[in-house]
Amino acid sequence: MAATNTETAEYNEQKLENKVAVVTGGNSGIGRAIAERFHAQGASVAIFGRNQETLDETLDALGGEDESLAVQGDVTDAEDLDKLYAAVEERFGRVDILVANAGVGKIRPFDEVDEDFFDQVTDIDFKGAFFTVQTALPLLSDSSSVMFTTTGATERGLPGLSVYAAAKAALRSLTRSLAAELGPQGIRVNAISPGPVETSLVERMGIPTEQATEELGNIVEQQPIDRFAQPEEIAATAVFLASEDASYVTGSEIDVDGGMAQV
Ligand SMILES: NC(=O)c1ccc[n+]([C@@H]2O[C@H](COP(=O)([O-])OP(=O)(O)OC[C@H]3O[C@@H](n4cnc5c(N)ncnc54)[C@H](OP(=O)(O)O)[C@@H]3O)[C@@H](O)[C@H]2O)c1
Repeated sequence: MAATNTETAEYNEQKLENKVAVVTGGNSGIGRAIAERFHAQGASVAIFGRNQETLDETLDALGGEDESLAVQGDVTDAEDLDKLYAAVEERFGRVDILVANAGVGKIRPFDEVDEDFFDQVTDIDFKGAFFTVQTALPLLSDSSSVMFTTTGATERGLPGLSVYAAAKAALRSLTRSLAAELGPQGIRVNAISPGPVETSLVERMGIPTEQATEELGNIVEQQPIDRFAQPEEIAATAVFLASEDASYVTGSEIDVDGGMAQV
């Protein structure tokens, strides 16, 4: 049945008009897809990451400096986070949507994990995300949406992921704590839990890419939707959580994982 004019108008409505969004890891993979979707939905977007080249490329895709902001830095560095929010405050004045997405998915067998590896992964994936949100607090508006990127690997035991999965499980727990603590200020806090997504995370796992692809491929084969996700499929859920459509959703983790955690 053809859509009525009203339905079409509603469908085309820009869901994030007049919103200010910050996306860490917005220069690659899932974060980049989220930043692009937010921009397409009318938000002013600031991205944050370490690699200046991909920050510049993504900024171009977000309409350049006139429309968006790219800040170079590391989520494990408190001064860099201060620099990010100082730039966002100067440019946009506040934050309505915060996606603490920057992360690394490093694989290592349990008996080979040393303290350096443990610290590297937990510093980025848990501590970095924690302080990404805490440092943003003074700028978060009174009806804002915060989200973390967790992983389906917290819901299944997978070899080699003891540190990564535990760091992300900590984020899932943090989602609940912050939903409770920040709820009275009008801040909703949720998490998106992707299954295997086609991004550069696979090349950065710290094991040969072929091995990573094979291991993830074995997981994918068991899913009801037996393929890798595209980053845009994760971004669609981020738009939902960022928008008024999710005005009654907080403390939740939404699985966008092809059914990986359910079967
Ligand atoms: N791909 C998957 O299958 C999958 C599944 C479940 C969950 N996830 C999660 O999704 C998130 C995004 O990953 P992705 O798949 O899109 O991988 P990706 O393409 O490798 O992107 C990772 C992003 O995080 C940024 N980042 C990493 N460490 C950082 C640091 N210390 N400081 C600032 N930025 C940092 C990277 O920036 P630079 O490039 O500048 O370093 C990059 O923009 C991660 O949290 C990951 O754990 C991914």
